Amino acid sequence: MLSEVLLVSAPGKVILHGEHAVVHGKVALAVALNLRTFLRLQPHSNGKVGLNLPNIGVRRAWDVASLQLLDTSFLGHSDGAALTAEHVEKLKEVAGFPEDCVDPERLAVLAFLYLYLSICRSQRWTEENLELINKWAFQGERVIHGNPSGVDNAVSTWGGALRYQQGKISSLKRPPALKILLINTKVPRSTKALVANVRSRLLKFPEIVAPLLTSIDAISLECERVLGEMAAAPTPEHYLVLEELIDMNQHHLNALGVGHTSLDRLCQVTTAHGLHSKLTGAGGGGCGITLLRPDLERPEVEATKRALSGCGFDCWETSIGAPGVSVHTATSLDASVQQGLDSL
Ligand code: MEV
Repeated sequence: MLSEVLLVSAPGKVILHGEHAVVHGKVALAVALNLRTFLRLQPHSNGKVGLNLPNIGVRRAWDVASLQLLDTSFLGHSDGAALTAEHVEKLKEVAGFPEDCVDPERLAVLAFLYLYLSICRSQRWTEENLELINKWAFQGERVIHGNPSGVDNAVSTWGGALRYQQGKISSLKRPPALKILLINTKVPRSTKALVANVRSRLLKFPEIVAPLLTSIDAISLECERVLGEMAAAPTPEHYLVLEELIDMNQHHLNALGVGHTSLDRLCQVTTAHGLHSKLTGAGGGGCGITLLRPDLERPEVEATKRALSGCGFDCWETSIGAPGVSVHTATSLDASVQQGLDSL
């Protein structure tokens, strides 16, 4: 039982290159962002366990006693490695959700319930064990995305910049703190459906799609090489190469069928300001990234952000290579984060 408030955070992430290809065994480069999600775990004596996710408008509470009475044997003796479709169906019953629910808010509640019921039962939440956190995060991802590659939970757990291929993770040494814009088109999409569509396209046109995946793999490797060189001595030419890689990958992702008119718009707007962008993650809407070269003047960055906001997109200026999952003390938190948590 938790005796005091625990504050933890994990970074947001973007995939620089390799989304979708990674599901087919290719390399992905993923980086943690200096934009974090904070979690406050707070003991209560009201006999309830509450879940409050203000950013997506979720507020739920369950009686601890009734959760304890639940027959959770269906979860088995999992150690962050065993979520099945049956588990998800059972969790929907527990939450009182319809079988066919797919909305992200309900899926987030299911992911929480799964982790709460599994972790509290096994009482392993006592030590900082990144391997275990990563395994549990992967299961949470599976509740939402079905069959993820594991790259997203890995980079949010370890932070920094990772090369990921078929579960094998290596950290890039001293990645440059590239500045980027992270842009949310606010077009909702299902990662599960997009991944399935790429698979169908690969099966339908293997001679066409397999070379695209191989080319994306080569883009990731070239990007890794360039980032390695930049660790020693970044030059303007390095940024030009990174921009070319971004453009080529964005075209490949369009050819895989995971583009969207909102992402085309995003690319057009940033091109008009001399900047280069690609979708990041699943595509079909969702988020894009724009590389900010160090030589850019502040007014140009601000004008780009204004133009993107004018399209109805949310836009954050941030940098890559943030620390992974972290524990905080109340006094070490930014005032804005503290305020946000206090207002819950
Ligand atoms: C989603 O962020 C990245 C994808 O490659 C899916 C995955 O890796 O599981 C599209």
